[in-house]
Amino acid sequence: MKLILKSFAVFTLAISLTNCGEKKETDAYGNPVQEKSEVAAEPTVDPLLAKGQELFEGKGTCTACHKADTKVIGPAIKDIAKIYKEKGASIASFINEESKAIVDPSQYETMKANFVITKAMTAEERKALEVYMMSFE
Ligand code: HEC
Repeated sequence: MKLILKSFAVFTLAISLTNCGEKKETDAYGNPVQEKSEVAAEPTVDPLLAKGQELFEGKGTCTACHKADTKVIGPAIKDIAKIYKEKGASIASFINEESKAIVDPSQYETMKANFVITKAMTAEERKALEVYMMSFE
């Protein structure tokens, strides 16, 4: 009996020694642990961007005339963003009737009708619309 216990002890010792030799990263349950660096960092979303999209598609009614990359009634958002970036102009100012049309002045009257909505917005809402439109490329 003593011999059996002894050999069992030796056996257990041997197993624990071999286990120590392995360098597998496991959690308390023995599941492999992922390297920290592999976990992607949370992308930081500009809160104005989400608000801008909501306004653009919602109470701004902008989607009725502006689509991402095709001209409908108004120019494509991508085209507007491109020109505004090139000229360093501000969409927030334009929709508050503080600056002139630089994309398609011949159709300005159609756009102007929508200023009833945008001028009633807060400056932050107009800025959110700008951030949203400028995010297109
Ligand atoms: C009834 C259709 C219509 C609606 C609704 C509309 N637009 Fe427009 N938009 C136009 C037309 C047409 C143009 C081209 C004329 C122009 O460039 O001013 C235009 C042009 C623009 C331009 C470029 C202005 C420039 O410098 O030439 C911006 C920026 C713009 N729209 C933003 C908006 C935003 C933001 C909204 C929603 C709050 C909106 N539009 C809603 C028709 C519309």
